[in-house]
Formats: sequence, structure tokens, C-alpha cells
Amino acid sequence: MDGLIEQREYLVNGELRLWNGEMNEVVSPVSINKDGIVQRNVIGSTPLLTEKESLEALEAAVHAYNNGTGEWPTMSIAKRITHVEKFLLEMKRQRAVVVKLLMWEIGKNLPDSEKEFDRTCIYIEDTIRELKNLDRGNSKFENEEGIIAQTRRVPLGVALCMGPYNYPLNETFTTLIPALIMGNTVVFKPAKYGVLFIKPLLTVFRDCFPKGVINIIYGKGKETVGVMMETGKIDVFAFIGTNKGASDIKKLHPKPHRLRGVLGLDAKNPAIVLLDADIDSTVNECVAGSLSYNGQRCTALKIIFVHENIADSFIKKYTDAVGKLKCGMPWDKDVKITPLPETGKTKYLTELVNDAKKFGAKIINENGGEVNDTFFYPAVLYPVNAQMRVYTEEQFGPVVPIVPYKNLEEVIDYVVQSNFGQQLSIFGNNSKTIGYLIDELANQVGRININAQCQRGPDAYPFNGRKDSAEGTLSVGDALRAFSIRILISTKDNAQNKEIVQTIVREHQSSYLRLDYIF
Ligand code: G3H
Repeated sequence: MDGLIEQREYLVNGELRLWNGEMNEVVSPVSINKDGIVQRNVIGSTPLLTEKESLEALEAAVHAYNNGTGEWPTMSIAKRITHVEKFLLEMKRQRAVVVKLLMWEIGKNLPDSEKEFDRTCIYIEDTIRELKNLDRGNSKFENEEGIIAQTRRVPLGVALCMGPYNYPLNETFTTLIPALIMGNTVVFKPAKYGVLFIKPLLTVFRDCFPKGVINIIYGKGKETVGVMMETGKIDVFAFIGTNKGASDIKKLHPKPHRLRGVLGLDAKNPAIVLLDADIDSTVNECVAGSLSYNGQRCTALKIIFVHENIADSFIKKYTDAVGKLKCGMPWDKDVKITPLPETGKTKYLTELVNDAKKFGAKIINENGGEVNDTFFYPAVLYPVNAQMRVYTEEQFGPVVPIVPYKNLEEVIDYVVQSNFGQQLSIFGNNSKTIGYLIDELANQVGRININAQCQRGPDAYPFNGRKDSAEGTLSVGDALRAFSIRILISTKDNAQNKEIVQTIVREHQSSYLRLDYIF
């Protein structure tokens, strides 16, 4: 990358403030080779803010919300939409620099980095459209049992939004934008990795929203997030990360019943390959499902159950396909496997592999598990069993455990006993068996994919999970609901009340009780 990015600004109360304290080095997963010696590649730095700055950011958001009477929460939806539209327009101008920073900082390949950016823009456009629909649907009165009422959606308060490193733009913005557009004020703290790309967006945020509506802070969770949560002034906690992290933070709120959680957490999505599955298409889906972005997707297939009678042909074709995946730098053409951003990740994955070997698994693909600094060549493990850590632990990386099974009950039992319940994939052709599995597993996960890998999209569909995998449901429409609550304005159906309501509407005396229509 050309030059270090020293990013000292953070956004509080509509001002870019300059931080002169301790900084956090941003190290690229793409290391440098100098005279044959591999060296850490520091590409920039970001502020390590303290409790003081975090509380200032929170206070700015609290003040802008002003118990729901601030400019932003009371602004008309149509006007709020114009702010978000302006933001989107300006954000689109930053595409090239954001994509480049995603590649350098989290090692995501070029097409996937571009897709992350574009998909986020589309998500914002869809959100605007959905909000207009929602508002139009609410522009009416109902009359039930002699009570006239109008229902509208209003904000919840101050939202704390924290995204993950694997989709630092997309997953963060799928909570941040709905939170904002519904009238909440926000403190946003980026993930541990995938932070520098926010720099070009800081001024865009500052210029497109009233002061205090969006505040962006940097630093370690302990010093920043905990202290804000302890004040009890956060009303919505949007977090994508581990269930342990989410629980630890939620517990800090003095009145947890006041805190709404919108959480995307751990997952261990299984693929279930039935005896009659079409091997070629199943292998294609399973390779993409388990190894896209090096397996660092919450929706990745993290364990593959294959019927023992077809296991040999499946693993042969699967390992052949893995052998064809091109490894290299994120910006190189057709590269699929790239260096890993997390510190200590290759060591952790090696430990998982060694543990599996100890209990009888083998690495069945050539070069599987080879490490070169931050790079880990995908390791396909077979046969995996319940004694191994990788059987239950979410590897979140390029290790693929394959389990041979005899009876479907073994697989059903795995899903039922699992702590996670995001999604699963069934591969097969026998409709009766697939129907049976659907019925056995429909109450275990949030989505069952037939002859397809697990995935979040399309964003119009609900994205959720059971057990330790999620709290709440996200989709373009659901997110608007997640960050709002209904307010019902009602009155008894009599002539006097009707006259009052009609006058309020006719004379535009309320921005809530109204009949106007956003086109
Ligand atoms: O990391 C979790 C992402 O939401 C997964 O999204 O299935 O589109 O890769 P994706």
C-alpha cells in the first residue's frame, strides 16, 4: 500500500476530534518479504480511545436523542431519508478506496471486497424503499371495537453498533443504517480488524447527519464499550461477534430489560450429504460454502456429514476441487485463498488440526494445514468424530472437518445437541428423506438450504438463528422493526374525538398523527 494511514480522527457530536494519545497499529495480513525475511506489514494506525472519549460520544448521542425530542428522532421520515440518500451518494464516491483498504486490512479478495461494498449500497437503497412502504402502510386509521387508532414506528433511543471483522462494512451497515433511518442516535465502534476503511467515510458521516446523531469511536472493547453500557443509557445493542462477548457486554447494563439486543453470533452450520446426492454439484456448493473468504463467514459450512457409502467419492472430488483453488494476494486474479487477518489464527488452526489428528483424523488433501506466516493452506480433515475439538468448535477459518455417518439419526442428534442454530444445508435427491429431515430440524435452525450452501442473502429474507447463534431477525424489512417500536395513537370513536383527530391531521399539527404519503 502506498504510505501509512495514520488515522487520528474520531467523530463525536458532529466534530472530527483529533486524538493525540496511544495508537493501535494496523497490521496487514499481507506481510512483506524483505531480503527473504518475512516481516509484519504495518499499514496504519487508529486511536486507542479511553473511557473519557467513549462517554463523550455516548453523551453526544444521548443529547441528540434528547429523550426522543431531539431533531433527529422527531424529524419526518421523508426528511431522514434525504439524509441517508445524501450519505449513500457520497459513500459511493469512496468505493475504490474502501475496496482497497478491505483487501489490505482483512485480506478479502477483490471480487468479494467489491461485492461487499456494492451489496451494502443496494442494502441501503432497499432499506429506503422498505421504509417508504412501511410508512405508507401506516398512513391510515383503523377502527376496532369502537377505538380509532393509528400505529406508527418510532425509534428506541441510543444504539450501540458493533460489527465483525469479516464483513466490517456490510454487516455493520445492516444495523447502523436501519438504526439511523428509524430515528435512533448511534455510537458506532468498528471491529478489531477492518477499521481503516472507515477513515474516508468519517467526513461523509459528519456532513450528512445532524451533530451527535452518529458518533464513531475506536479502541479496545474493555475501555470503550463496557463503560458506556454501565451507564444504562444504551437502548439497543447491535453486535456481530461471539455469544460470550455479547453476553459479557449485555450483563453490564444496569437494567437489562431496557436493552434490546440485535445480535449475530457464532455458528457451526453443517452440510448433510445424503446417499443419493449429486456429488459434483454438492462438492461445488460445499467448497464455496466452506472456503469462500477462507471459511471466515458466519454462514460458512463448518462441518460436513457425508453418508459413509459415498464418502470415498465425495472426499476425492472435494479434495480435488480444493486443490484447484488459487492461493495468493487478495487483488490477484481468481485468487480464492488469502492470508488471515487475525493475530494467532494460524497457530489456533494448527492446534485444531493436531487435536483432530490425535483422535484419528488425517489431513486428506495435499499441503493441507501448511502455514506460511499469516497464510494457512486449507486442511481437509477425515474422518472426524465427536472426540475432536473441531467437531463442535467454530473454526472460522480454512479447516474442513468431514464426518462419515451411517444413520441420519446421528446427524439429527448432532444438530439437536449443538449449541448453535444458525443454518444447515441438505444435499440429496430423495424428496421423502429431505422432507423428513426438514421436519426433524426446522425447530433447530433459522434456515434450511436444499442443495445449496448456507448464506445470508438475499437480504429480503430473514436472517436469524437459534440457541447461541443470534438474537432477533435481520432482513431489510425486519431490521427496520428491530430498531423501532410501535406507537399507537388512539381515541374513542365519538364525534368530538373524530373532530380533534381530523383537525390535527388537516392542519398538520402533529408529525406522528398524519395521513401524508411518502412517494
Ligand atoms: O459472516 C456472516 C455473513 O452475514 C454471511 O453473509 O452468507 O452472504 O456470506 P454471506
